[in-house]
Amino acid sequence: MNRSLQTVNNPPASHRDYFNHLAPVWDTMVSREPNLESYMNKFGVQQGDVVMDIGAGTGRLTTILQHLVGPGGQVIAIDISEQMLTVGKNIHSAENCQWSCADVCRLPFRDNFTDKVICYSVFPHIKQPLTALQEIYRISSPGGRVLILHSCCSRKLNQFHAKLNGIVCFDRLPASRDLAVLLEKAGFAQIKAVENPEIYWVEAVKN
Ligand SMILES: C[S@@+](CC[C@H](N)C(=O)[O-])C[C@H]1O[C@@H](n2cnc3c(N)ncnc32)[C@H](O)[C@@H]1O
Repeated sequence: MNRSLQTVNNPPASHRDYFNHLAPVWDTMVSREPNLESYMNKFGVQQGDVVMDIGAGTGRLTTILQHLVGPGGQVIAIDISEQMLTVGKNIHSAENCQWSCADVCRLPFRDNFTDKVICYSVFPHIKQPLTALQEIYRISSPGGRVLILHSCCSRKLNQFHAKLNGIVCFDRLPASRDLAVLLEKAGFAQIKAVENPEIYWVEAVKN
């Protein structure tokens, strides 16, 4: 990631500003996760699903989800940064996808309607993690599932964020066992966690 883009002299006031600023260059900054589609298959994303991509950014995951849920399914791509979503909308097809500028802590959606919710590379940036998980629980259908996914462990990611300039330098991903406790508090069950240097995978079910 290019740290020079966020100078300490002109720090963005919010995460929204921070990611809006990075939106035009985001896709050149992040490396491709080659396993993303197989992770989504493993999580059970299938044709006809209604799936929410939280912190979708420019749609790195969204496009894979659109393909997996097919024409009979729906992807809802949520982000607080309207600039990230604008870049995403311009690159990817609008077919079976709704792009919505919203904070995960206040989702403008009805109760009980998603089959799967994925938070890919977003969780450390969420200021009120328990509120976010409670919102995800509310919009999930009974039996619906949530996955919090990163391409490395919390220790590596937290070290990386700590070295960045700008507002994200304080953002921390909880250890998977601590996230499991938060998921339980939000009402989720059947929590499974895998955390190693290559992956952070915590999934849970709304019973
Ligand atoms: C590190 S980027 C990852 C983007 C995308 N998932 C990817 O992998 O390329 C984190 C994204 O989460 C968004 N975000 C941060 N806090 C959020 C919140 N409270 N609600 C929704 N989106 C949020 C940011 O605007 C940003 O686009």
